[in-house]
Amino acid sequence: MRVILPMPDNETMARALARRLDAELGVLDWRRFPDQEAYVRIASDVRDKHVHIVCTLANPDAKILTLIFAAAAARECGAQSVHLVAPYLAYMRQDRRFEPGEAVSATHFARLLSQHFDSLITVDPHLHRIGDLKDVFSIPTRVGAAAPLLGDWIGRNVDAPLIIGPDQESEQWAAEVARRAGAPHVVASKHRTGDEHVRVEMPDLATWSSRRPVLVDDIISSGRTMIEASHLLAARAMARPYCLAIHAVFAAGAFDTLARLTERVVTTDTIAHASNAISVSDTLARLIEA
Ligand code: R5P
Repeated sequence: MRVILPMPDNETMARALARRLDAELGVLDWRRFPDQEAYVRIASDVRDKHVHIVCTLANPDAKILTLIFAAAAARECGAQSVHLVAPYLAYMRQDRRFEPGEAVSATHFARLLSQHFDSLITVDPHLHRIGDLKDVFSIPTRVGAAAPLLGDWIGRNVDAPLIIGPDQESEQWAAEVARRAGAPHVVASKHRTGDEHVRVEMPDLATWSSRRPVLVDDIISSGRTMIEASHLLAARAMARPYCLAIHAVFAAGAFDTLARLTERVVTTDTIAHASNAISVSDTLARLIEA
């Protein structure tokens, strides 16, 4: 028997998964004590059941302890196994030591989660210098791919698209999205000089001037990558771009700026956001069932 247990603010995804899997939707009582420490109580019977805790990990520092307490409490209540369904997996971008003394947070975060869960399911983790999640996690991991969903959305909603990956790392998504949407694709190059500073160089787009640019990336965080790419497209007199991303991290102000520069900003629901138009719930449900 499976229990799908939502952490706070993950109820919509958990409900969709429970419905799709015909599983029980669990209840977690949660609040903050006056001193801001977390109170957690598993309010459902999880004895001898497989518990899948649903917790997207945007803004991870605010939720990680509560998540660990929930996993521990589920075990203490007799759960047969405890799994993490994290539609967005945080801390994957600091995947090496760029400066002496830096913590390689991808490794440490993976190690921490591996201590508390029996397995991890996620969608398109940001794997760049780490080739595979199993290189950093010691528990089984299963990964869903959102690129086909993005490609299908574009195929249904955008006429004559040109898929543009804003940097070399996005080639992996851009190529698959383009194949799925039946469209050509190009990839720009990006140089990041700080958390909020990037320089993007766009290839020659003259051949594609009549097409609708569709920028695709895995994450929009500060938004600078997409914002710079949108400015360059405007400078080349291309049509206003669609801007698609898998994970709607969106630092303060990023969405509003991007919305002003683009035809539409579209994301998946790995992180709940007003721009969500594509659901990964079926992808996650299939991975839970596998
Ligand atoms: C690059 O490493 C990622 O694929 C994204 O391009 C990046 O995370 C976007 O970040 P930002 O929105 O802060 O430019």
